[in-house]
Amino acid sequence: VIVTYLTLSDFRNYHTAELALRPGPNLFVGSNGQGKTNLVEAIGYLSALGSHRVSDDRALVRAGADSAVIRARIEHAERSVLAEVQINRVGANRAQINRGAIRTRELPRYFSSVIFAPEDLALVRGEPSGRRRYLDDLLVLRSPRLAGVMADYDRVLRQRNTLLKSARSSGFRGGNLSTLDVWDEKLVALGSELIEARSSLVDDLRPLVTAAYETIAGMDHRASLGVELSIADVVIEPVTAAWAARAFADSLAANRRAEIDRAITLSGPHRDDLVLTLNDLPARGYASHGESWSFALALKLASAEILRRDSAAGDPVLVLDDVFAELDEGRRARLAAAIGDFEQVLITAAVFGDVPPELAIHAVHIRAGMIIDSPDDDV
Ligand SMILES: Nc1ncnc2c1ncn2[C@@H]1O[C@H](COP(=O)(O)OP(=O)(O)OP(=O)(O)O)[C@@H](O)[C@H]1O
Ligand SMILES: [Mg+2]
Repeated sequence: VIVTYLTLSDFRNYHTAELALRPGPNLFVGSNGQGKTNLVEAIGYLSALGSHRVSDDRALVRAGADSAVIRARIEHAERSVLAEVQINRVGANRAQINRGAIRTRELPRYFSSVIFAPEDLALVRGEPSGRRRYLDDLLVLRSPRLAGVMADYDRVLRQRNTLLKSARSSGFRGGNLSTLDVWDEKLVALGSELIEARSSLVDDLRPLVTAAYETIAGMDHRASLGVELSIADVVIEPVTAAWAARAFADSLAANRRAEIDRAITLSGPHRDDLVLTLNDLPARGYASHGESWSFALALKLASAEILRRDSAAGDPVLVLDDVFAELDEGRRARLAAAIGDFEQVLITAAVFGDVPPELAIHAVHIRAGMIIDSPDDDV
């Protein structure tokens, strides 16, 4: 998939902007704070319905405006679609495909993107929630149906926690406990499906992450990953939904007293983690800054590879936001080689010379929310 044309209005610091993009590498250069990340963030938003930087969409609307519009022409093989989203400060967002209204959440079907950004360091060094999100985002891109399972799980979890609270305040009396059994069944059914899906994704990712780390680091330091499940101390591989359902139910039974005391659900996929290891040591807490950053890039590269492998709709659009400034010469060159054959790669850099020359053939200059010059101006 490639994005051939992008139009923004009132998005971040862009009043209006129009830009033609090319297949292969596109480089956006400009000083700090000019709008490079904003531009690629808009493309990421269109494919994921969210920003990699903020959870509140309102930050995306230009200060003083009521709504922002991102419009992109997306091409794959012979097909071309015009995708558009309007982000409203008040009220629901709207989406269109070929100028006909669609439900916003259908938008991500038209293309996918993978963003590499400084924020990814938190995948390695941050809290488990970021790693769960990494897995879950990828799961949804591979099988959109799972978005429904995740939403249902979260809803059942909230309701179960509410019930635990009222069981605590009523001192176990009344019908609370039998109602709890009903919620437990639902939680186990949805949760075990997620546990199996995440585990099998991790199995698919593992060799890709190991290979990607070697590629980026240029050394045979063995990067690996595994799941840490809150429902059982001992995990039987490969993790199946049937095994997970039994273990989850057992764990709920064992924890019931403590859960009522604390009024929270103590085990389940909402408490699991993705464990990253480098030469058999946990990356979190042991890996150096450069190693952690390389690991984060390897995780993103692996997700790009997996999407490319099982998507009929072509490669995801790769976005590398401020990535090269953080890397030494060798890593820059090896990363450039690893992403060089993706259909389209968008790169931002404050310093032109930080980007390997083969990725800098098509450079667009950005200043104060304006596209200053682009080789395609006359098209
Ligand atoms: N909603 C908004 N309305 C107006 N301006 C905004 C909005 N959101 C962000 N900005 C402005 O956009 C600018 C940041 O742009 P961006 O993050 O794209 O910079 P950048 O070119 O990537 O810089 P760097 O090299 O530092 O990463 C800031 O000046 C910020 O104040
Ligand atoms: Mg930036």
